[in-house]
Amino acid sequence: MRYLIATIPGDGIGPDVTREAVTCLEAVAKVFELDFEFEECLMGGAAIDACGEPLPAATIRAACASHAVLLGAVGGSKWDGLPGPKRPEAGLLGIRSALGVYANLRPALMFPQLAGACPLRPELVEGGFDILIVRELTGGIYFGDRGRSPDGRYAWDTERYSRHEIERLLEVGFDAARRRKGRLCMVDKANVLESSRLWREVATQMGRERSDVELSFMYVDNCAMQLVRDPRQFDVIATSNMFGDILSDEASMITGSIGMLASASLGDDGPGLYEPIHGSAPDIAGMDRANPLAAILSAALLLRHSLGLEDGALAIEGAVALVLERGYRCADIATRSAPGPGAPVEGRARELLLGTRAMGAMVAETILGGSS
Ligand code: IPM
Ligand code: MG
Repeated sequence: MRYLIATIPGDGIGPDVTREAVTCLEAVAKVFELDFEFEECLMGGAAIDACGEPLPAATIRAACASHAVLLGAVGGSKWDGLPGPKRPEAGLLGIRSALGVYANLRPALMFPQLAGACPLRPELVEGGFDILIVRELTGGIYFGDRGRSPDGRYAWDTERYSRHEIERLLEVGFDAARRRKGRLCMVDKANVLESSRLWREVATQMGRERSDVELSFMYVDNCAMQLVRDPRQFDVIATSNMFGDILSDEASMITGSIGMLASASLGDDGPGLYEPIHGSAPDIAGMDRANPLAAILSAALLLRHSLGLEDGALAIEGAVALVLERGYRCADIATRSAPGPGAPVEGRARELLLGTRAMGAMVAETILGGSS
């Protein structure tokens, strides 16, 4: 079977990390004798520079015709002055919407090997934690009515959700909880927002017929606090687009680094979209300093969710764990700053610092080695 994978490297470190994810997918193809065809597409600032718009029609066509889409990151200060619909980020929202990928799964899993990079006190994360954030991705304030008054003195953005949008997202949350520890925490701001009260109403109704899952509710401000107070209390968190965006950055940091967090965005059918949750970090673009592991782990999610290749997904995840176990680190997950590439990290003889390419190559080699 030939699998068509559309790649959208995007801007900043997007191309750096996407290249390494592709290298790892090629290693998986070799080991499991699969046929992957990659088609590179333009989006974000790169597309603005090349053809004047953040999401060319050709990219939408290629993405829709693929089995899955692997995305890097978009944006950068170069395009910050552009009006909203012309910004690189509009390309990202546009492709999510075009693919109908309303459920964004963001696993915040702490690799035990990275416990030293976690900013929380060791006793709070002993034994690790494993949280899945299920973020609504194609609705809410990201897509609601927005504008400015003619005199420029007012601006507004609207949070708007339909029952249908809430139901389908929560269904993904309930399903995920059932396959995990059976606990679903819905996060909202129901003490203030009417849209949140609708979320609670829908969740309560759904929960009555899904009593195998333990449903709870939490206000988003409390959740932000609880994540750093006691992250092990959470199993699955389901929430709106905006709250999920914010909470997943927070959850990522307590796993060690935002450079570790992968994501899968899924709809009812059609290709899924896979991207690291980090941004384009233009300040380190092209410098061989970005951590490619979030992109590589996103490629594992792609194999699992869109191609049904669980063995391939496990091969990537196992290789990442092994590479970390052997002490290899990118700068963001090193316990202390290190003097240079390949050199032992100061004070931690067993940590070795790698650049983007070397880390990608190390994971790919480990995948290949694991087969012999
Ligand atoms: C993310 C990012 C995007 C978002 C930005 C770049 C539009 O922060 O994927 O988390 O807010 O969804
Ligand atoms: Mg974000």
